[in-house]
Amino acid sequence: MEILGIDVGGTGIKGAIVNVETGALITEKHRIPTPKGAKPNDVADVVAKLVEHFDWQGKIGCGFPAIISHGVALSSGNIDKSWQGTNVEDIFNKRTGLEFHVGNDADAAGLAEITFGAGKGKNGLVLMITIGTGLGSGLFYNGILVPNLELGTLPYKKFKHIEHWAADSARKRDELSYPEWGKRFNKFLKIVNGLTSPDLIILGGGASKKLQRFEGQITIKTPVIVAQFQNNAGIVGAALIAK
Ligand code: BGC
Repeated sequence: MEILGIDVGGTGIKGAIVNVETGALITEKHRIPTPKGAKPNDVADVVAKLVEHFDWQGKIGCGFPAIISHGVALSSGNIDKSWQGTNVEDIFNKRTGLEFHVGNDADAAGLAEITFGAGKGKNGLVLMITIGTGLGSGLFYNGILVPNLELGTLPYKKFKHIEHWAADSARKRDELSYPEWGKRFNKFLKIVNGLTSPDLIILGGGASKKLQRFEGQITIKTPVIVAQFQNNAGIVGAALIAK
């Protein structure tokens, strides 16, 4: 079965058609920059453009950078505040006429890794962390998702959310080298490791491809590995949400 997977991120909105039996992308991925402010109408327009690009008629799975409960956004970290309380599935459905299944983006990325990737067959507690505009988290116990864990929103020092200090966007903003930023990311890992005691941590998102440049800064004992789907985990997992 093939499903269009769409990953809505703070800086880019990406999609590809995914074979949900194997996790393979069966088209090139297509990316459109996230419209400034990421307001509902503007994001829905981009989602519709992706649907058009793939000439897609079937159902669609979508990873979204917020807490998503029964299709409704309950937070709005790196997107416009007006998303809060809206039914994201309905908004995209009204705009495209197609059936949408929406979940948290990091939960989606984790789903891809647990099903086909670096977490396949791993029992116990597996924590997926996505490093991008924010810090996303997805927790799995014996392969089952515990949805909407929001570790990037923990308060830290003067920062409302630790992701404002330790995400990849903070590395760029503060012009840090990977080792300099790696110390911050390690602090984040130490805190979340202490809170959740995972057996394995899988890193996804753009910066995970650069693990070699900051793994020297990681001091926790828990094994930390890179997502097998790297930056495509969000798209593959999005399609799995709709499966
Ligand atoms: C949001 C999370 C999301 C993460 C990554 C955070 O700002 O609170 O829901 O998973 O960004 O996009």
